[in-house]
Amino acid sequence: MCGIVGYIGKREAAPLLLNGLKRLEYRGYDSAGIAVLNGEMSVLKQKGSVGNLEQLLSVSGTVMLGVTAGIAHTRWATHGDPSDRNAHPHMNVTGDIALIHNGIIENYSVLKQELSGQGYTFESDTDSEVLVHLIDRIWKGDSSLDLESAVRMALRHVEGAYGICVISSREPDRIVVARKGSPLVIGIGDGEFFIASDAAPIVEHTNKVVYLSDGEMAVVTRDHYTVKTIENVEREKLITELDFSLEKIEKGGFEHFMLKEIFEQPEVMQDVMRGRVRLNEGRVQLGGIEDYLDRLKQAKRIVICACGTSWHAGLIGEYLIEEFARIPVEVDYASEFRYRNPIVGREDVVIVISQSGETADTLAALRLAKEKGALVMGICNVVGSTIARETLCGMYTHAGPEVGVASTKAFTAQVIVLSMLALALSKGRTISHDEIALSLRELSKVPEKVSRILDLNDQIRAIAETLKDARNVLYLGRGYNFPVALEGALKLKEISYIHAEGYPAAEMKHGPIALIDEDMPVIFIATRDSTYTKVLSNIEEVRSRKGRVIAIANEGDQEISRLADHVIYIPQASGPVTPLLTVIPLQLLAYHVATLRGCNVDRPRNLAKSVTVE
Ligand code: G6P
Repeated sequence: MCGIVGYIGKREAAPLLLNGLKRLEYRGYDSAGIAVLNGEMSVLKQKGSVGNLEQLLSVSGTVMLGVTAGIAHTRWATHGDPSDRNAHPHMNVTGDIALIHNGIIENYSVLKQELSGQGYTFESDTDSEVLVHLIDRIWKGDSSLDLESAVRMALRHVEGAYGICVISSREPDRIVVARKGSPLVIGIGDGEFFIASDAAPIVEHTNKVVYLSDGEMAVVTRDHYTVKTIENVEREKLITELDFSLEKIEKGGFEHFMLKEIFEQPEVMQDVMRGRVRLNEGRVQLGGIEDYLDRLKQAKRIVICACGTSWHAGLIGEYLIEEFARIPVEVDYASEFRYRNPIVGREDVVIVISQSGETADTLAALRLAKEKGALVMGICNVVGSTIARETLCGMYTHAGPEVGVASTKAFTAQVIVLSMLALALSKGRTISHDEIALSLRELSKVPEKVSRILDLNDQIRAIAETLKDARNVLYLGRGYNFPVALEGALKLKEISYIHAEGYPAAEMKHGPIALIDEDMPVIFIATRDSTYTKVLSNIEEVRSRKGRVIAIANEGDQEISRLADHVIYIPQASGPVTPLLTVIPLQLLAYHVATLRGCNVDRPRNLAKSVTVE
């Protein structure tokens, strides 16, 4: 979950590393640190953002001038509170080895006890520090070893997940890195190499990268790198070309990444469908699953596993696939699936959905489903991510890098991918060619309709003013709009810290209605579908208890304006594409409420973009 950057080459390392950390701050930002080799080891680290570290560096960083190798880290606390001493890098007692770590060392307390018994003292409460002392002990115990072998031997004692970078003043011209469960990428420059936990800090320097796989280590020097397994077997690695630009990961004139990403959605939606939706032929072409389509169609059951916003997309996927392809679908939280000994077998298809492609629970669910013999398909945004590489087949969402911690464009891209998948699974089986063609036409009109909703930004901001002091907000919807209610509530709580709940509207009377009074805003998603009149009754029920009503309704609906305090009108659309429209005002509403409350929307407290720990 934390961010890792490393550099070795001919340029000043410290500014490069700091810049890299800024690109990774979305992964964690409660403390940051840097270690460089200038004959001796110099380390600076501090609680707070990368900006704090930058200040510290400008005051005390003269020792780091002219240095051309180093490592840096931005942390999201797991073991030990956010503080200077728990910040990475961690060092051995003699101060000649420094280590940064992403992941969790699960057997750290056993190792810590063992090392304490041997006289090692610990400066921090982290699990990571154990690893640097372990390397130190092994290296001191056998002076014929080099850093690489000491790291390799130390890792054999470790249970858990890690992405690590280690440097030592005893071997100043190399960085040793290793990965198990936490991503690491090596960027290949001209006489220089970059290491990072994802490609974001690398892309401005080079588009050539090597992704390490689980169980691999690399030694990176100024002129080459070698990759081996932890068991010391050499590996030939494929060099991948990155296909996203720096401009794509910068804010492009918007105040926040989240707002930029919300506004990018019409374009992103076109990108997701490009080459896949063949309007003229009335069919979809899905290259990533083509070879497996027949097996997918024969699935006895589909299980969708995901976390957070991706799980909400999965719920919409369930509605879509069951409606069109008539294959039974279950949607599971990946974190539950992995531990409940699920009944899954060869006749099942498991679809894992993940923006980052690195979420630890989703990855574990994928591996379990594979072990049990299911055909595992991935829907990921980050190209080359672990989930993308470990699934048998899959589809990229092509939403481009998503930086805002609260997912927006990746969600709508996932829903479009699921819509295309549902139609591909229906072809020749459950619905006619004409029905598929009609659905594709509906889907292709969505980007333009989303643009029209984005034009309502000012109105939505004004409505946000009326919500900004709320303490609780209820979101209600039915059918395709039920998962949207969940997603709207999640967006609000993630970034504004207002408690919010999403519910199927009809369930209101089984509990949430007890909460309704004049202080309780209720957001109804009340588009014209088969349950519209029932949702209207729910609105009446809220009004009669003096609740405040904000409705998302279809253009031309006069009836609803009589009942609601505020109405956000969106274009008409058929049920299956409705979520792609109704979620947009909810994203904007959450964004504006959060900014009006002075919250940091791109980096909400306690959250991280990519959750690579359990
Ligand atoms: C974190 C993020 C969420 C995201 C979830 C799943 O909690 O803050 O925005 O939905 O992880 O992430 P994934 O990358 O697997 O979609």
